[in-house]
Formats: sequence, structure tokens, C-alpha cells
Amino acid sequence: MSRSTLVIGDAIKNRGSRHLLSNDVEIPDERIQDIVRDAVLHSPTPFNCQSGRAVVLLKEEHKKFWDIAHDVAKASHAPPIFEKAFAPRIKMFRAAYGTILFYEDSNALKVAEGKMPIVKEKMPQWSEHATGMLQYAVWTMLTAEGLGANLQHYNPMVDSAVAKQWDIPEDGA
Ligand SMILES: Cc1cc2nc3c(=O)[nH]c(=O)nc-3n(C[C@H](O)[C@H](O)[C@H](O)COP(=O)(O)O)c2cc1C
Repeated sequence: MSRSTLVIGDAIKNRGSRHLLSNDVEIPDERIQDIVRDAVLHSPTPFNCQSGRAVVLLKEEHKKFWDIAHDVAKASHAPPIFEKAFAPRIKMFRAAYGTILFYEDSNALKVAEGKMPIVKEKMPQWSEHATGMLQYAVWTMLTAEGLGANLQHYNPMVDSAVAKQWDIPEDGA
């Protein structure tokens, strides 16, 4: 077995949902950005359309995201539900170092679809597969760097406020 197989095998085994994270990160921000860029470029996509998009929010930008999540969750749930189900978790996630947002570029998917119209109805499902592979690649690569991570779904609740804050186009491009 080659050394690289061992390294990836260890990262696959060590990856897990780490919810209690600190913001004490020694790895340079550029390394985190490189990991995400590499994963976007090299993860498999239907017809190699590279539909994955990611927004890396670190430090203050990361805190802004969780402040938005806090405000949106508070505005859209009854106080007992917000206090029990959302407030403590949002506080815990905000204490971490960064958040990565994942999108699929619907234009890239349409171009891929155009190459093989017969698979049109499969594309939404394949897009979900592709983003799942991308997210898993990033999660595993962060693990290999010694960084903890977890996967959260605050969409669609936060989508419009987040799009406004970071200028994210509706088609995910
Ligand atoms: C499609 C998908 C959606 C998930 N959504 C969430 C989520 O919203 N919140 C969360 O805490 N974990 C979420 N998870 C993480 C799983 O709960 C977790 O990976 C699983 O329990 C196995 O634990 P492990 O990650 O420690 O191996 C999700 C995982 C997948 C694959």
C-alpha cells in the first residue's frame, strides 16, 4: 500500500462530526482556501461541469454568518423552540473558526444538460450527488490537516439573508 493511500485512509477513518470546536487554528487561512479550491476543481461532477461553488467565511465573516442564522432562526420560530433547538447550537457553532457555504451553479449544470438532453431529469439528483462528494472531499481534507468540522443545514432558512450579505447570485454561480 502506498503512503498516500495510508494518509487518505486515516483521514477517512478520523473524519467525524466534531460539534464542539474552538477558534484556535494554527493553519494559515490560505491553506484552508487552497483545500476548498482544490476540492472544487478536482471533485467529480456530471460531464465534468464543475458545478460546485463554495464561500469560505473565516473569523469575523464566520461570526457574521452565525449572527444571521441566530436572527433568522429567532424571527421564524416560537421562543421556546428557538431557545431549545437553535440558540445553544448556534452559539456553539459561532465559537468555531470558520464556515464554508456550498452551492451548485445552475448555469454550469444547464451547460452539462445541453450536452446530453436525455439525462435532463437526472441532473437535479446528480447535482446533489456532486455537492455531496465535494462536501465530503473538503471535510476529509480538513481532517487530514487536523481540523475538526461538522455539516449543518441552515438552508433554506438563511439563504436570502446570506445571499444579500455576501452578494451570492440566485443561480449559485
Ligand atoms: C446529507 C447529510 C446531512 C446531514 N445534516 C446534518 C445536519 O444538518 N446537522 C448535523 O449536525 N449533522 C448532519 N449530518 C451529519 C451526520 O449526522 C453524521 O455524519 C452521521 O451521524 C455520522 O457521524 P460522523 O459524521 O461523526 O461520522 C449530515 C450528514 C449527511 C450525509
